[in-house]
Amino acid sequence: MSDLLLTGIGHLTTNVGEPIRNAAVAIMDGSIAYAGPESDAPLQREANRLDCDGRAVLPGFVDAHTHVVFAGDRSDEFARRMAGESYGAIAAAGGGILATVAATRAATEHDLFEQASARVWRMIRAGTTTIEVKSGYGLETEAELRLLRVARRLGAQLPIDVKTTFLGAHTVPPEFSEDRDGYIERVTTEMIPAAADLADYCDVFVEEGVFSVDEARAILAIAQEYELPARVHAEQLGHTGGARLASEIGAASADHLDHATAEDAAVLAAAGVSAVLVPGASHMLRSQHAPASVLMEAGCNIALATDCNPGTSYLESMHLVISLAVVEMGLTVEQAVAAATLGGSRALGLDDRGAVAPGMLGDLVVLDAPTPAHIAYRPATPLTWATIKRGELLSSVVEPER
Ligand code: NIG
Ligand code: FE
Repeated sequence: MSDLLLTGIGHLTTNVGEPIRNAAVAIMDGSIAYAGPESDAPLQREANRLDCDGRAVLPGFVDAHTHVVFAGDRSDEFARRMAGESYGAIAAAGGGILATVAATRAATEHDLFEQASARVWRMIRAGTTTIEVKSGYGLETEAELRLLRVARRLGAQLPIDVKTTFLGAHTVPPEFSEDRDGYIERVTTEMIPAAADLADYCDVFVEEGVFSVDEARAILAIAQEYELPARVHAEQLGHTGGARLASEIGAASADHLDHATAEDAAVLAAAGVSAVLVPGASHMLRSQHAPASVLMEAGCNIALATDCNPGTSYLESMHLVISLAVVEMGLTVEQAVAAATLGGSRALGLDDRGAVAPGMLGDLVVLDAPTPAHIAYRPATPLTWATIKRGELLSSVVEPER
């Protein structure tokens, strides 16, 4: 919780109106006290000052869908996919999610934390100030709890806020390959009760050959009894009805949605379900993107997220996600930046962030560029000059003046 006065902001994205030129932002006790023209800014003589020298400032990124706690990598599978094998065929042959489950089960809690912490620090340095983290690479009670504990510890020990999601229904583990009902019973009778105190949400991967709509409905109904609202991996590799299920049960979000239809968009919007889009996964799988403009025109809240995971989307930076959303999905820069900040906050039910206005958290990104358009336009350049979390300056090429 810090005080900080940012001056010399060339372009301030507030998400509550038009961008402000020649702006200043004052943060007191970790929250925004003033955001507006520099000429009207209150004098804070004692505050740390950061002269942004014409740079662009925007809200900290809210990455509403990650699987960032895992062990090992799947670069071998990446090479096979690039040579033409499909994600589904690799998974059916025992690779895919199950390869990461084997590596993750074999890792200690200490190692999982160290590896995830390195990834999350890179996210922070790129401007992310809030993330959602899913379990789903343990698929047995103690291993799933270990992932959720690591996720919670990331939030406690690193300068980032973390929301956790139990994803025990990510796939059926090998020891239950002949008894999928037995695994679903394990999830509902043992894992959800055990995970309830460590998780904020429950998610299910609804996909052909993974979990059906009916199985997901049953799992998410039990989760609801433990006060875990639903998120759903929906319509990623094909169209199986996950979006409609998310609408029917009032899920917090439907995620991926690459194969969502206009009808899905209408029911999601009517039910107030956020659409969390992960263009990194579609890009890396060389598959089709979610129909972002259809979802937006239907009135859905759109969030952009990395989906950081070792299989489909080993992305840590929201910059590339924004760039893909603009270049490949057709969002405008303004829409993509809003989806990566305010959209993510809404998808996580957090109304204290995602905008730069009095009372909001002092979570900001200072770009080493004059406008946010540079994020999309220069995708591989690390343009985050400073990340500010609750008024604390976390990374910058300069120290603040006193
Ligand atoms: O979001 N869709 C399911 N889960 C992940 C992939 C996980 C993996 O391949 O390890 C995703 O793309
Ligand atoms: Fe995912």
